[in-house]
Amino acid sequence: MRHATVEDAIDHARRALAAAERVVVFTGAGVSAESGVPTFRGAGGLWKTFRAEDLATPEAFARDPRLVWEWYGGRRALVAACAPNAAHRAIARFAATRPGVAVITQNVDGLHQRAAHDAGASVLALHGTLFGARCTRCGRRTPHDLPVDATSLDTLPHCDACGALLRPDVVWFGETLDPHVLDAAFDAARSAEVCLVVGTSALVQPAASVATLAARAGAMLVEVNAEATPLSDSADVVLRGRAGEIVPVLLDKGDPV
Ligand code: OAD
Repeated sequence: MRHATVEDAIDHARRALAAAERVVVFTGAGVSAESGVPTFRGAGGLWKTFRAEDLATPEAFARDPRLVWEWYGGRRALVAACAPNAAHRAIARFAATRPGVAVITQNVDGLHQRAAHDAGASVLALHGTLFGARCTRCGRRTPHDLPVDATSLDTLPHCDACGALLRPDVVWFGETLDPHVLDAAFDAARSAEVCLVVGTSALVQPAASVATLAARAGAMLVEVNAEATPLSDSADVVLRGRAGEIVPVLLDKGDPV
């Protein structure tokens, strides 16, 4: 549906979000851009400077674990110095006060979780976390937020249980997502009345299917993004702009604009 004015579009989305019992909030790197975390695609995106196949694949880690840990350690340090922004906080408040809201993110930066922790809400992280590690031999998962010394193979993090090399607990290209997390996300998508999609290029599968599944099952699709995406044409409401400015207007109580 096309709206006569931006105010009409915001009002339509706000009313639908306020009235719905089951809502999915599905986010990507753009929701963290205003916190200072670089996105992957678009202007200033990480994949403009770095090659994903050198850093974010199992083959890259097998070839050069030092390089991959150095990169993830650097991203972890950068993100640790960032704070949740107004969009993360509004989403966390919305989810904490409404039992039928599922927050599903592709982000590994932990900013939704940090905002949610204060508000008491939970988050489905489809692509894992920068602040965790997983053993390459026994598969044991462990929280890991220490600085990474990538000067040699020996200084890289190793498993407390079996001594083998740890790897970042993120999902790389060519890997399957945790089936429990993905099933929970798809279940929430199929039963959502409204799907609010924030700051994702919607190009990476299967994550992007959260939005398309929801729409196919009848959910109203609301997109908040700085640019057009493959979802824009089929979205019921498209709001172009910055997540930190638009999302609080959509989710926080107050007079309709
Ligand atoms: P992308 O970098 O592909 O897309 C970021 C989106 O955010 C773009 O559509 C931008 O237009 C939008 N954007 C940027 N700044 C914004 C702002 N302030 N407010 C609103 N929107 C803004 O990031 P993702 O879609 O999250 O996967 O990427 C998906 C996956 O590809 C990531 O999880 C990661 C990546 O490679 C893996 O590493 C497996």
